[in-house]
Amino acid sequence: MSQTARVAFLTGAGSGIGRASALELCRRGYRLVVTDRHADRAAAVAAEAGDAIGFAMDVRDWDTIRAGIAQGDAWGGGIDVLVNCAGINSPYTVIDTPIELWDDVMAVNIRGMFLCSKAVLPGMIARGGGVIVNIGSASSLVAMTERAAYAASKGAVLSLTRSMAMDHVEQGIRVNCLCPGSIDTPWVDRLLESADDPEGLRAEIVARQPMKRLGTAEEIARGVAFLASDDSSFATGSALVLDGGWTAR
Ligand SMILES: NC(=O)c1ccc[n+]([C@@H]2O[C@H](COP(=O)([O-])OP(=O)(O)OC[C@H]3O[C@@H](n4cnc5c(N)ncnc54)[C@H](O)[C@@H]3O)[C@@H](O)[C@H]2O)c1
Repeated sequence: MSQTARVAFLTGAGSGIGRASALELCRRGYRLVVTDRHADRAAAVAAEAGDAIGFAMDVRDWDTIRAGIAQGDAWGGGIDVLVNCAGINSPYTVIDTPIELWDDVMAVNIRGMFLCSKAVLPGMIARGGGVIVNIGSASSLVAMTERAAYAASKGAVLSLTRSMAMDHVEQGIRVNCLCPGSIDTPWVDRLLESADDPEGLRAEIVARQPMKRLGTAEEIARGVAFLASDDSSFATGSALVLDGGWTAR
């Protein structure tokens, strides 16, 4: 790991959990490479953070990822932490899931994580260590109705986390998965917007929560910062569940 401020590289960091994680890591003294499919969002978060660069990176595209990781490496003098946060939803059963959407969910949520890790690991190994934080979901662990493709991809996120953790433990690399429950981000806003009765649906979602509220992006960001830092030095291949009790019921 570098002796100076650590460098964290985030995907999907233009909104919600990724954005909050970027700002939390910044508060804790990290230098940031903020990426998102949308260039303007990445640039805005980088500007808000301060010691950061922000640019477009679509996690579906290997060439773009390799160029992005190289750019981050060159700017930061090495990447110490990768936060794989980019993700998309698919609120359907198997029967209703369009095949193209299944493919896109897998391309973003799990193949993208594989590609970003593949691009960043050689540099981490060469420098003697690093940390990868993969954003999973409560659906990595338990069934959720009408989330077939999404849950399949998030189950794979946890499996990939465990495999990478074991493959690279002796190289000083820790890989962990953070599993959020329902978190109040633009993600949820989009789900509500598509409903006939958005306020009714929000009330229903809140009523389903053991804590009778949604989580905040900041609550998840503090978990990301924990997994990124030496505070979690004995954790690898683990799933940190921050879900207000959802999976405990
Ligand atoms: N909000 C929740 O309730 C919740 C719960 C569990 C897990 N998660 C996970 O947290 C992560 C972030 O979700 P969020 O709630 O912040 O959602 P969000 O929609 O606010 O943010 C997702 C970000 O990912 C970016 N993105 C989408 N496709 C991309 C691609 N191909 N390449 C690069 N960036 C891309 C989007 O532009 C967006 O900025 C996702 O992986 C999601 O599965 C969210």
